[in-house]
Amino acid sequence: MKEEVGYPFDQLPTEMFWTARGGGAGWSSICGTLPPAMAAIGLVVDTDTAMQLVDELFAWFIAHPFPEYQPHGEDYAKVAGDSTLCHVQVTKWLAETGYRQDGPERSDRCGGASADVAKFTVEMLNAYADNAFEAAHSPAAVVGECMACHGGEGFADTRGKETCTECHGNLPDPHPDGY
Ligand code: HEC
Ligand code: HEC
Repeated sequence: MKEEVGYPFDQLPTEMFWTARGGGAGWSSICGTLPPAMAAIGLVVDTDTAMQLVDELFAWFIAHPFPEYQPHGEDYAKVAGDSTLCHVQVTKWLAETGYRQDGPERSDRCGGASADVAKFTVEMLNAYADNAFEAAHSPAAVVGECMACHGGEGFADTRGKETCTECHGNLPDPHPDGY
């Protein structure tokens, strides 16, 4: 594959992305499929375009049921994590399937997710190269609702596009305007 694409891409050591695994050396922080995709995007397009493509990648990622790619007919349940975090993604999948985090099934799931992310990234880049890229995904609607008060137009005490209610399930009581 590397040989097929050729120079300069065959000069990139894949080891430079090794620590993304396990959500960053096992911290279960950002899903390890994402930083390499972000780097690959940043390698070939300008910074403004890269921001748009990564935004689309993340918005697609939180809603995508992983793992789509199951090369050996495994028939694993596909679960959308509603988060870019490894912890949230993997734990929801384990809860749904009943597998262990240290089992081979979990490795299959994350391998499949890696393939899904690589495929989506390549498709986006190809569409961009053909002048046909259009963003089709957005953060969860609740983000806009919360950020109307907490974001830039409001009192600006937080930032981000992750699905707020994934973590803030129990909002302070009373929260203004019924939230
Ligand atoms: C109508 C405006 C409004 C909306 C919409 C809103 N909030 Fe708030 N929120 C506030 C105000 C005002 C406070 C109190 C001031 C503060 O602590 O920032 C607050 C406080 C909070 C706090 C801190 C509470 C604490 O313990 O101090 C969290 C967390 C929070 N909001 C999350 C959310 C989330 C998540 C959403 C969307 C589901 C949301 N808010 C929607 C106005 C809003
Ligand atoms: C991955 C989990 C997670 C997500 C997703 C998340 N938050 Fe938080 N948020 C936290 C944690 C942890 C804190 C710090 C502890 C606390 O105060 O609850 C925090 C703090 C806050 C605070 C300040 C609370 C205070 O004490 O004043 C606000 C406001 C807030 N978040 C709003 C949001 C909004 C709006 C979103 C969606 C855009 C969001 N959060 C998404 C985990 C999360």
